[in-house]
Amino acid sequence: MNKNVTAIVGCKWGDEGKGKIASMQSEDATLVIRGTGGANAGHSVVYNGRTLPLHLVPGGITYPQTTAIIGPGVVIDPEVLLAEIEMLKGHGVPDIESRLKISGRAHVVFPYHKDLDSLHEFLKENPVGTTKRGIGPCYADKANRVGIRMYDLLLPEEELRSKIVEATKLHIQAFENNNMSVRISPKELAREYSNYGKQLAQYITNIEPIISNAIDNNNKIVIEGAQAFRLDLDHGDYNMVTSSNCSTAGSLCGSAIPPSALKEVIGIDKAYNSRVGNGPFPTEQPSSLITEGNGMLVGDVIRELGHEYGTTTKRPRRCGWMDCVILRSAKYTMGVDYLCINHLDTLGKIGLKLGYIKVCTEYLYNGSIVRYFPDDINLTKEIPEPIYETLYGGWEIDSSCKCYDDLPELAKQFIQIVENTSGIPVKYLGTGPANDDLIIREDV
Ligand code: IMP
Repeated sequence: MNKNVTAIVGCKWGDEGKGKIASMQSEDATLVIRGTGGANAGHSVVYNGRTLPLHLVPGGITYPQTTAIIGPGVVIDPEVLLAEIEMLKGHGVPDIESRLKISGRAHVVFPYHKDLDSLHEFLKENPVGTTKRGIGPCYADKANRVGIRMYDLLLPEEELRSKIVEATKLHIQAFENNNMSVRISPKELAREYSNYGKQLAQYITNIEPIISNAIDNNNKIVIEGAQAFRLDLDHGDYNMVTSSNCSTAGSLCGSAIPPSALKEVIGIDKAYNSRVGNGPFPTEQPSSLITEGNGMLVGDVIRELGHEYGTTTKRPRRCGWMDCVILRSAKYTMGVDYLCINHLDTLGKIGLKLGYIKVCTEYLYNGSIVRYFPDDINLTKEIPEPIYETLYGGWEIDSSCKCYDDLPELAKQFIQIVENTSGIPVKYLGTGPANDDLIIREDV
């Protein structure tokens, strides 16, 4: 088996800036694939100087030699997808018709999934803080074997209607029992979604021959991970997670790529950390989101300097210090070979503003020092307490800084702590918002 697959995965709770490395890696790729999640993800790609927001289509589509695949593990909102295709065409991205492929096995998100998402959140004592894009209920239907796949949108309208009737029997009861005035009309939905099917038919296909051909020819394949390690359904902070396996193994599965074709895993993180939605975040800093008044708290400083507001929901993100313990777990559970640490410039500014920077290297948990993320915090009701190393001061990174040796000494010290604690070499460093604000350490 040829091994020419590069997987790009998020190491924390998403929003680490996977798009920049995905873009760089796609420059000479033949296939770019999304394998997990749906329109809950939001990433931006720069094309002809314009920033294009994407939720479903792999960002690597902006390189004209690529074929972009939406894999069987993705859940697709056809309305969002069609708008995205139009947007890409409108910005002049060439040959979308021939270069975009959608696995017929990918499942379809319907409006009732979004209503169910809201209902579940409403009924929960501790809501997850989902994006309300219908992701969980769509994956639940898939697991219950009543999901509707992209291929089904190509069925005669009457057959699609029968599938919708089958899929929604329990959902209708759930809405009625909770006095929710959600009206599901299988007939109208079948008409609307058949229409989407007609518009998308040219893209819907069996992706296996495309992938096997690329592997046989040793073509480069890039998997663009969505969400991240701590949001993975099995390996994240259950139940404050998303509904797909968005770490490496799940991303391969959802992309229909055999694990034996993997060449490298690049884990993406930020020099500080952030999270949207609820759930444990050991290094989270106090902010006006969780504390009333008192002006700018540390979490606010990080959020404002990092512009940490959600791309999909615009929610302000919770912010805190770099957590290297999670990176150690990411090394083993996700098989991360190299790290890319983004926002190194922002961390320097945070240090200049506060006079210090912190990096979590271990946890105090249940009276012991641990160097892994505990998986029984729902049982102990204890959030691991971070143990920090502190660096005093900050730094500025200007445009002349193009290699590791040019970096300020304090920034290098920070990187060394990350490498020593996580056991993963830092090969890429994001030093600004532009695609080429990136230091690549060729010697790593
Ligand atoms: P869901 O994926 O919409 O069900 O949301 C579950 C959790 O995952 C929530 O905390 C979301 O905020 C989070 N989440 C889902 N997708 C992303 C993403 O792309 N970036 C960051 N957080 C995400």
